[in-house]
Formats: sequence, structure tokens, C-alpha cells
Amino acid sequence: MSQTFDVLVIGGGPGGYIAAIRAAQLGFKVACAESNSYDDPKGDPRLGGACLNVGCIPSKALLASSEEFEKISHQASEHGIKVGAVSIDSKKMIARKDEIVTKMTSGIQFLFRKNKVTFLKGHATFSGKSSEGYQVNIDGKDAGVVSAKNVIIATGSKARHLPGISVDNVLICDNEGALKFDSIPKKLGVIGAGVIGLELGSVWRRVGSQVTVLEALPEFLGACDQGVAKEARKIFIKQGLTINTGIKIIDVKHDKKGVVVNYADNDGKPQKLECDRLIVSVGRVPNTEKLGLEAIGVNVDARGFIQIDDHTCETSASGIYAIGDVVRGPMLAHKAEDEGVLVAEILAGQKPHIDYNCIPWVIYTDPEIAWVGKTEQQLKERGIAYKSGQFPFAANGRALGMGRADGFVKVLADATTDEILGVHMIGPNASDLIAEAAVAMEFKASAEDIARICHPHPSLAEVVREAALAVDQRALNM
Ligand code: FAD
Ligand code: NAI
Repeated sequence: MSQTFDVLVIGGGPGGYIAAIRAAQLGFKVACAESNSYDDPKGDPRLGGACLNVGCIPSKALLASSEEFEKISHQASEHGIKVGAVSIDSKKMIARKDEIVTKMTSGIQFLFRKNKVTFLKGHATFSGKSSEGYQVNIDGKDAGVVSAKNVIIATGSKARHLPGISVDNVLICDNEGALKFDSIPKKLGVIGAGVIGLELGSVWRRVGSQVTVLEALPEFLGACDQGVAKEARKIFIKQGLTINTGIKIIDVKHDKKGVVVNYADNDGKPQKLECDRLIVSVGRVPNTEKLGLEAIGVNVDARGFIQIDDHTCETSASGIYAIGDVVRGPMLAHKAEDEGVLVAEILAGQKPHIDYNCIPWVIYTDPEIAWVGKTEQQLKERGIAYKSGQFPFAANGRALGMGRADGFVKVLADATTDEILGVHMIGPNASDLIAEAAVAMEFKASAEDIARICHPHPSLAEVVREAALAVDQRALNM
């Protein structure tokens, strides 16, 4: 096989598959190579990347199932609903998650056919450059050489493992194993109180595990606004999560019966955590091995990320771009997608732009945590004068009616111009509410703009408006 394309995308995750579809929409002849079969029963490479196969989508499916279980078991009675003994079939919960993943990944194959994107099933490695463009070897099912004038590297990331802790994805798991436990662990240990640790820790806590999270940093959720992080820690502890910060892992031992984590606590005292299973969620590292980057002169930084031009995502080799988790910036699916669209449009001669300050973050715990823009601590560090307005969900009729009154929304605005600099929230449906803040910030709105816009009543969105009013001490319902 020797085929020539205008654009070759390496990696079929949210960055890669969206880049491929957008490039095809713009009239290019496009191929997308993907090598990972994840859990495909036939062993065929599957589209969707980490996000659809072992990340965003399966974790949210399990979060939804465990949330339903918790609501029925513990919250139904508040509504006067009487239920008998409630139990959960964790195998069914995992099977439901797998069905959703299969549906989503095959949906991308359909989109590829619709947009005439060629799906190359195999691992891609650069071998050099010829008059036809960059030469890329594909191994696996669609083995052969492909040429393309432009290549978009979207090879994503994988879980970072700790030295001396061997992940077998049965007893000691990264995100892949933690999404398919064959039974509910009685005691679950989690190393790393980041996004994965808290989301997957919540899943298994809700269905009955006793969960202990061990975090190296002294502060909890350091990237969040610290007001939100403090509230989150309080709520998660009340829910039954044990969170130990400022720890140092000494070693991890395991036998068939379980795992023992020896660590030093915040005071340096030796402690032992015995658990049935352990999740190691200490960040992710970019996938750049066996790509042949040296053959075409693509530079990688000291941490393994591909170096790019911040505005165009072009690498040190002309015509080769890199996007998503394999480059700088937040490791988020929507950031990868937006970079995919950006590169396809640049190739078509357009002038797209991404404002990285307006990329929203969500942690899908209950309550959800979401933010966009700068935190209070970042504004202080940069010496930017700001005003802050905060409003609690407890003073909102819709939240009370839903029985979901924990948390608040905080709006930070420039002290002089009133421009919104950051919006931070912890509360029900924060993942949806944050979109309003992201739109407002993209349009450089002021806090007063949000305050003056009519919001539906009764709705959770009124909390965002009240927080914007609170910036000038004129919240109406508090
Ligand atoms: P990936 O999704 O990693 O895809 C890259 C693909 O490239 C992979 O399938 C890989 O097999 C393939 N590949 C690599 N090298 C080659 C090669 N040489 N040849 C062929 N193919 C290759 N983000 C959110 O925004 N929201 C969430 O809720 C969220 N939840 C998450 C939950 C978990 C448990 C995890 C682990 C991550 C989560 N993320 C979430 C992060 C999100 O999954 C990533 O940011 C996103 O997948 C990055 O997309 P990508 O296209 O850059 O890379
Ligand atoms: P993370 O970076 O969010 O958190 C890792 C945590 O582990 C940090 O708090 C870090 O201090 C801690 N840590 C590091 N080394 C440690 C050690 N030796 N001992 C104890 N603690 C240690 O990484 P995580 O949770 O693995 O997730 C990876 C990435 O995936 C996230 O940063 C995010 O970009 C993406 N993701 C996004 C989600 C979302 O958008 N909702 C959900 C899940 C993942």
C-alpha cells in the first residue's frame, strides 16, 4: 500500500478525529491513523482515544450510575419516596458503561465514512520526507507507507506511573483498570487527589467502598480557586472520603489478598494503608515514543511534550502540527478538539484563534466543580486589583427544590473596568453553568453584563447572576 493524502492525522482521539473531520469538511483528502484497540473484542484499533475509551466518557457513565445509586439509597427519603433494600450490580454498571463506549466509538467510524476520512488501522512512524511530502510507515492491519504534505500529530497521553509501583490494572490500577473493577472493593486506596482520583474515588465510594486518598502536595486541589477547594474538601470529607495531604509514598507491596501502601504523613510519621485495590492517578505523560520524530526534525521539550508555535500549533518541522495532550496546555478533550479545528482551518488559509484563558475546567464530583479564567490566588500573585462576588446555592429556590443546595458561585471582576477575570463554582450542574461564564469571558463581558441579563426563574443559572450582582454588593436574594 502506498497512498498520498493532503492531511494525515496521527491519533484518533478527540484532537485527532475532530481535526480529521474538520479538514475533510474543508475539502482536503484526509487519513487518520490509530493503533490502540483498547478493549475491542476483535482486537481492532478503535477511534475515540483515551477520552472515549478509557477517560471522559466511561468515567462519566460510571459517575452517573453511582450517582443514581446514591440518590435512591440516601436521598429518596427526603422527597418522601420509600424504597426497599437497594443494591447495585457492579458488573451491570460496567457493562452499561462498555455499551456507551462502543456506541460512541462506532459513531466516529460513521462520521469518518460520512466525511470520507480514511481510517488507517495501525501504528504510525515517520520515516522521512520526499517530493510527495512526509513519509509515514503504518504497521498493523493497514500496513504500508503513506505520504502527506501536512501531518497533524494528535497522539495524546498515557497515565504516569511511579517508580517501584507496578501497575497490573487488576490490584494496582491506573485509569484503565479503575474503570473496570470486576467487584466493588471494600477498601480502596488512591494515590493522587487530582481530577481522576477524585472522580473515580467518588464512583467507588458511592457504591460502598471505603476510599482513602493520599496526596503529596500540602494543599488540596491546588489548581482550583482555594475558596472552592476548601469547600470541596469539607463536602467530600462529609460524604465519607478520607483525604490525607502532604504525604510521601515510601513503598507499595501487594499479594493476592490486597495492597499495602507505606507512606509518611504530613508530620513525617510512618503510616500504613491497607486496601483491596489501589488507583494510581498522579498525572499523565505525552505519547511521543516510536513516532520517529527525529527522522523529520520535530523537537520535544524536557518533559516529552512536542514543542509548537503557541498560536498555530506548528512544530519545528514545517507542515507538521501537534495538538491535544501531546503539547503544552491543559489535558482536556475540548482543548484538544479546538486545537484540531484550529489547525485544519489554518491549513485551509483561515485565521482561527484560541483564547486559552477561556477554556473551562470541570471536575465531575458531586457537587461538580467548574471554573474558567483566573483564580483569586493567580490574581493576587500578578498584582491585579479585583472585586469578588459570591452567592450560595442554598439561597436559590431551584437548588433547594432539587435537594442540591451545597456550594456557591464566585465571580471575579477587574476592580476598575469590571471585566470578568474568572468564574469559579462548586454546586449542582456546574459543568453546564460554567458555559455561560466561558461565553461571557470570550465576549469580554463585565460582571454588570451578566447582572443585567434576564435569567430564567427558577433556575440554577440565577446563582451565576446573583454572584455577578454580588460583585457590586447588590445581590437581591441575600
Ligand atoms: P488521546 O485521547 O490520548 O488520543 C490519542 C490517540 O492516539 C490514542 O488513541 C493513541 O492510541 C493514538 N496513538 C498514539 N500514538 C500513535 C501512533 N504512533 N500511531 C497511531 N495512533 C497513535 N477531559 C475532559 O475534557 N473532560 C473529562 O471529563 C475528562 N475525563 C477524563 C477521565 C479520565 C479517566 C482520563 C484518563 C482523561 C480524561 N480527560 C477528560 C482527558 C481527555 O481524555 C484527554 O485530554 C483527551 O483524550 C486528549 O485527546 P487527544 O486527542 O490529545 O489524545
Ligand atoms: P492530576 O494532575 O489532576 O492530579 C494528580 C495529583 O497527583 C496531583 O494532585 C499531584 O500533586 C498528585 N501526585 C503526584 N505525584 C504524587 C505522588 N508521588 N504521591 C501522591 N500524590 C502525587 O492528574 P490525574 O488525576 O492523573 O489526571 C490527569 C489529567 O487527566 C488531568 O490533569 C486532566 O487534565 C485530565 N482529566 C480531566 C478530567 C476532567 O476534565 N473532568 C477528568 C480526569 C482527567
